[in-house]
Amino acid sequence: MHHAPKRTQVGIIGAGPAGLVLSHLLARHGIDSVVLEARARAYVENRIRAGVLEQTTVDLLRALGLAGRLERIAEDHPGVVLRIGGADTVIDLRALTGRSVSVYSQHLLVQDLIAARLAAGAPLYFDAPAYAIDGLNEAQPVIRYRAAGEDRTLACDIVAGCDGFHGISRAAIPATALRVIEQTYPFAWLGILAEAPPAPDIVYARHAEGFALASRRSDQVGRLYLQCPPDTDPASWEDARIWDALSARLAVPGGPALARGPILQKTLTPLRSAVAEPMRHGRLFLLGDAAHIVPPTGAKGLNLAVADVAVLGAALADFFAAGSTGGLDAYSDRALARIWRVQRFSWWMTTMLHPVPGRDGFTERLHAAELAQLLESEASQRALAENYVGLPLQAAL
Ligand code: APR
Ligand code: PHB
Repeated sequence: MHHAPKRTQVGIIGAGPAGLVLSHLLARHGIDSVVLEARARAYVENRIRAGVLEQTTVDLLRALGLAGRLERIAEDHPGVVLRIGGADTVIDLRALTGRSVSVYSQHLLVQDLIAARLAAGAPLYFDAPAYAIDGLNEAQPVIRYRAAGEDRTLACDIVAGCDGFHGISRAAIPATALRVIEQTYPFAWLGILAEAPPAPDIVYARHAEGFALASRRSDQVGRLYLQCPPDTDPASWEDARIWDALSARLAVPGGPALARGPILQKTLTPLRSAVAEPMRHGRLFLLGDAAHIVPPTGAKGLNLAVADVAVLGAALADFFAAGSTGGLDAYSDRALARIWRVQRFSWWMTTMLHPVPGRDGFTERLHAAELAQLLESEASQRALAENYVGLPLQAAL
């Protein structure tokens, strides 16, 4: 940090997938950026999050030369399973769309992105929390941050707020200039990472006792989730209770028993949909979780962040090469057009697959009818598959 730059073209707040992919994309266009991350490198690199990448996301990472390890160890999933009341329906993504998804842990991707940035000698600073952004409506906003025990400033042409839903970027926009449209759900997910050989497929299960999801990290490590009340303390659920609930909800009559093993981590994920509009204020642009949250059903969070980066990256390339502001002016509308489609999909998967005790009879019957249609109709399955593998980025353009 001895020679921390005092100015840059794009100041990026946050070294999650959004901030890191953006810094790589900008470098590809010859645009300078500085990434400021509040937390330590080890923390960011080991934070367990989701793990499903749309083919659109993988294609972009490959084009940026960032898919080396991913291509070696990611699992290709040509289908996913819907397990409704113990009966399986395979949604054959490949047959329905010609595309598939990859399972690759988000924290491994974050490690790859950090290593490649540091290897290029790029300015990427950890333990450097931003605490204010001054002059958002001026040509040269300034990010104020702390590092090595002192207050520092970074003057930028553009500020990219990639600091997640609880960061400072969205909060820096005056309330009168921003609308947050949101919905919460009356349930959460208790997630575990377990040393127990997982089934080969990603399984979404709807069971009378609640939703469950069986996903994978490797042949030895499973990632599983259970619908639970929103105020659940994950530590209060004993391992045996978690396995019993997962076994019941994921059971197939006559099928193999769910393999159990040591639980390495328990987490609680609240379920929420939220979108901040517009995704820009003056020279500040919001990307990824800083602008929107989707419930995890369908695993869209990381993929949405990367799609935002693709839209803003192209706009910034035009801006810095030719001074044209058209792309920047269109960023929010372009990004939001696709985001709302993904919000709709995530909401639909979520509401259809989670039983809610006491839900009114009419809504309950509609969900049952929706599911029956999905299980019988190839057209309905294709609609699910098209969204699951990822809408084309052109939908935003
Ligand atoms: N200054 C600097 N960094 C900050 C600040 C701050 N004031 N506040 C938050 N951050 C950092 C966080 O520590 C985190 O590393 O911003 C980063 C935001 O990263 P993510 O939360 O991963 O968000 P994003 O890059 O938009 O990725 C979206 O990844 O994390 C998942 O659930 C998320 O799947 C979704 C996707
Ligand atoms: C995961 O592997 O963590 C995962 C998979 C599918 C989802 C959500 C999360 O819908």
